[in-house]
Amino acid sequence: MSMQGSSSLRVCVTGGSGFIGSWLLRFLLQRGYSVHATVKNLKDEGETKHLEALDGAASRLWLFEMDLLDPTSILAAVNGTAGVFHLASPLILDGLQDPEKELLDPAVKGTLNVLRAAKECGVGRVVLVSSQAAMIPNPDWPVDVAVNEDSWADVDLLKKLQLWYCLSKTLAEKAAWEFASKEGLELVVINPGMVLGPILPPFAGASVKILLHLLQGAQFDMDNLYIGSVDVRDVAQALILLYENRLAQGRHLCLERIERWIDFVAKLAELYPEFPVKRVEEDKQPWVVRAESPSKKLIELGLHFTPLEKLIKDTVESLKSKGYLK
Ligand SMILES: NC(=O)c1ccc[n+]([C@@H]2O[C@H](COP(=O)([O-])OP(=O)(O)OC[C@H]3O[C@@H](n4cnc5c(N)ncnc54)[C@H](OP(=O)(O)O)[C@@H]3O)[C@@H](O)[C@H]2O)c1
Repeated sequence: MSMQGSSSLRVCVTGGSGFIGSWLLRFLLQRGYSVHATVKNLKDEGETKHLEALDGAASRLWLFEMDLLDPTSILAAVNGTAGVFHLASPLILDGLQDPEKELLDPAVKGTLNVLRAAKECGVGRVVLVSSQAAMIPNPDWPVDVAVNEDSWADVDLLKKLQLWYCLSKTLAEKAAWEFASKEGLELVVINPGMVLGPILPPFAGASVKILLHLLQGAQFDMDNLYIGSVDVRDVAQALILLYENRLAQGRHLCLERIERWIDFVAKLAELYPEFPVKRVEEDKQPWVVRAESPSKKLIELGLHFTPLEKLIKDTVESLKSKGYLK
């Protein structure tokens, strides 16, 4: 990676306490950045302690309490920074009481609030974490072509299937592009698959818990959600590449490979015969065209993806070290 990030640069990371945010903070501090990171509750040590312990945090990390629906709290965090990494968004896949309030509002209105703050503060570049969930399911996609950045999830279908998280990411990304083009804000987007890998915060997040529960014998309907996985460290490195390479434009699929859910669960069962992993019996994703190294735009920027097997093993080791697995 080229050293374009000068140590005088100050950036804001929303959702800094999260699974991806914590790795991003670690790498940014390592590269000499000063960082304003947002957390939901400054009094919650579960959000702050692992960040304050990062190398460089004592002199170059500032934590801000931020609520995505409170523009003033966002402005305070963004003010004085040259770039914004917008990660904060609720990642809830089930058990929702009120999707509008719990997911859609913070994702869509929250993203717009962050972009407005960036515009108001004269921020030079915003890197938005969207998702592969904003790309699939797309019934209009050609049957023989692997999914790429041109694919958008079908909003009506997401509503019909009640895939609220996917809807929140799709609507948030669409709103972001519209705002950026109208207001002339420099925006670049990353669309990661299921993010796994070592956990820095005290608790495992939603995506790692899927792997954990698979190892414990649970089954998931991921037919409209899954097309591949990626290491959290690769996502964090990709975010920095996208920030530093001003010529990088548009959306960026971020996956080690495109595969079906049946493939992923079979690989996990093969690697961990000692766990009661239930293989998927029926492949319900004939529309997923498998592909090696599909994230061509990120590879061209210099990103090296962690191989799937290592990614799974590192996640399991991390779950063991945190006491989730024996
Ligand atoms: N993990 C994946 O598989 C995956 C895949 C593709 C895209 N993404 C996207 O990547 C981003 C980060 O995800 P992650 O896996 O790191 O999840 P995470 O660990 O749950 O992190 C989400 C962060 O957003 C913050 N947040 C949520 N709602 C907020 C609100 N209303 N106001 C302020 N902050 C709020 C959370 O704060 P608290 O910790 O206090 O709740 C947390 O710091 C999200 O945008 C997610 O959609 C994740």
